[in-house]
Amino acid sequence: MIKKIGILTGGGDSPAINAATKAIFLKASQYGYKVMGIKDGWEGMIEGNLFEITRETVSGIHAEGGTILGTSRTNPFKVENGVEKIKENMEKFELDAIITIGGDDTNGAITRLTQYGIKGVGIPQTIDNDIAHSDYAIGYESALEVVTDCIDRLHTTACSHHRIMIVEVMGRYAGHLALNGGIAGGADVILIPEVPFDYDDIINVIEERKAEGREFCIIVVAEGAKPAEVEGQVSSSGEIDSFGHVRLGGVGNVIAKEIEKRTGYGTRVTILGHLQRGGKSTGFDRIVGIKLGVKAVELIHEGKFGEMAVIENGIVTSVPLEQAIKEEKPVDMELYEISKIMH
Ligand code: F6P
Repeated sequence: MIKKIGILTGGGDSPAINAATKAIFLKASQYGYKVMGIKDGWEGMIEGNLFEITRETVSGIHAEGGTILGTSRTNPFKVENGVEKIKENMEKFELDAIITIGGDDTNGAITRLTQYGIKGVGIPQTIDNDIAHSDYAIGYESALEVVTDCIDRLHTTACSHHRIMIVEVMGRYAGHLALNGGIAGGADVILIPEVPFDYDDIINVIEERKAEGREFCIIVVAEGAKPAEVEGQVSSSGEIDSFGHVRLGGVGNVIAKEIEKRTGYGTRVTILGHLQRGGKSTGFDRIVGIKLGVKAVELIHEGKFGEMAVIENGIVTSVPLEQAIKEEKPVDMELYEISKIMH
């Protein structure tokens, strides 16, 4: 019988995690479960840094960005005796199960940990929105609004100065955020990781617009996009995290240099960076968080461990964690085709 559960957030934070945390607590309380917050992702579970969540803890947090739990990119399988320490702390804090709120890495870790007898369920949370079988991951919709608003703002100054504006958007190896944000913001060119780009195509759009009297151009580039001839990822820092991912960022500057070299047109780069993950969540995103939070607790109540709560084709349901982690979520190629006529 379940008496006590833990919640952790791993990987990059995003708005609306707190709405999910509150929903988890309230639903768990309805079942009579105690809820422990695990600080800073897997790091807290390894170090035994947990605290009890009470009604007071969650009061009003649904509207706050970030995560009251803290987060980290700690990979428990890269920490010496990480799995043993997690098992010890599960016992010490009498946790019957863990809910993990995060992307592929965090949920991939609980997937592997289930093989060691640790019970858990996952919740998709990443502004990248790249988790298979879920229409939405917590945080995506809020980030989409930020990206759209920023592109709107860049339009006015691009137009005044007759400039080429490059907007670099997060999303790691997936183009969901860049594609949707780019279309919503009226970008003239959208470059995504799924489709390696050719500089000639970009220049053609710029020149076509010039010929029609539209002397500015907005180019949205996903941080994971790259020219067809480049192997690997473009990264100005080259840093690698504990899950083996290179820290992306910098492709916008590479493109700007090439465009200036080829055309001589004034070009500016805006890297949206962590602004996309900060601040308040949208109402829609909070609802996503609340629905997934409640579903995760229900899964625990039904003994359905090793599952991920998802919203698939608009329906709140669950899929095996293993399946959600293994599969890729394809970018909407119909929308990508539409993006090519939107300039
Ligand atoms: O996965 C979310 C994300 O925001 C990615 O889009 C981005 O590449 C990465 O996290 C940035 O990570 P960090 O916050 O560790 O720099």
